Amino acid sequence: MTASHSAPPQTLESDLELGPGDWEAREFYHLMTALVIPRPIGWISTISAAGVSNVAPYSYFNMMGNDPPYVAFASTGVKDSLRNLREVPQFVANIVTMHLLEKMNFTSTDFPKDESEFGWAELTPAPSAKVKPFRVKEARAHIECEVKEIYTDHNTNIVLGRIVHTHIVPSVWKNGRVDPKLLDPVCRLSGSGYAQLGELVNVARPFWKDVQGKEREEAMPRAVKR
Ligand SMILES: Cc1cc2nc3c(=O)[nH]c(=O)nc-3n(C[C@H](O)[C@H](O)[C@H](O)COP(=O)(O)O)c2cc1C
Repeated sequence: MTASHSAPPQTLESDLELGPGDWEAREFYHLMTALVIPRPIGWISTISAAGVSNVAPYSYFNMMGNDPPYVAFASTGVKDSLRNLREVPQFVANIVTMHLLEKMNFTSTDFPKDESEFGWAELTPAPSAKVKPFRVKEARAHIECEVKEIYTDHNTNIVLGRIVHTHIVPSVWKNGRVDPKLLDPVCRLSGSGYAQLGELVNVARPFWKDVQGKEREEAMPRAVKR
């Protein structure tokens, strides 16, 4: 199928149909990062073999399974985080919450390798429990990981990290679990856009034993405000 539009139109009069090679790479990137939203941010701390600490945000980031538990993030091109992981294959995914939004963003600066993001952003490096890289003390939760694989396809480098430890501060804990409002995570949109959690709802998970023999109207769980 050929692309329906040769470049991003100002207004869309008919459905957009296109593949990754149909527009300039940058335009397709803008399209995808505006579409797959909101994204969580892994604020990845690493350490070089020489002991230089690094921390940088990655929103190509998510949980990738739970038995055993994995997270993954992707680096476009070879950046300091990736270079460090090739020397010391461990990282901490610090969870980014609204009170750290500006500092997180500041650490995305292309600082030279010998400049410390921790210093520039006035962040406190705290020892991790099971990995060498320091965690960001100011973050409310930290996920320590060991790198199992780095999958490279051209400029995309996907880092698969097996979770070995987590650390969560009491202020985000309520009724036996992490409370989303107390955590207050940053949601990444496209470009320099971000959002905070809005209204929260619950929808019960359906099981066949409860669904069978019922009409859809009765069987389908409804969203309820929390
Ligand atoms: C919110 C946010 C999310 C980002 N996500 C990514 C990402 O997923 N992949 C990537 O390669 N760069 C991403 N960047 C850009 C890197 O953070 C930036 O290139 C940084 O300088 C990399 O640092 P490093 O060289 O210390 O690894 C992101 C930047 C921001 C502000």
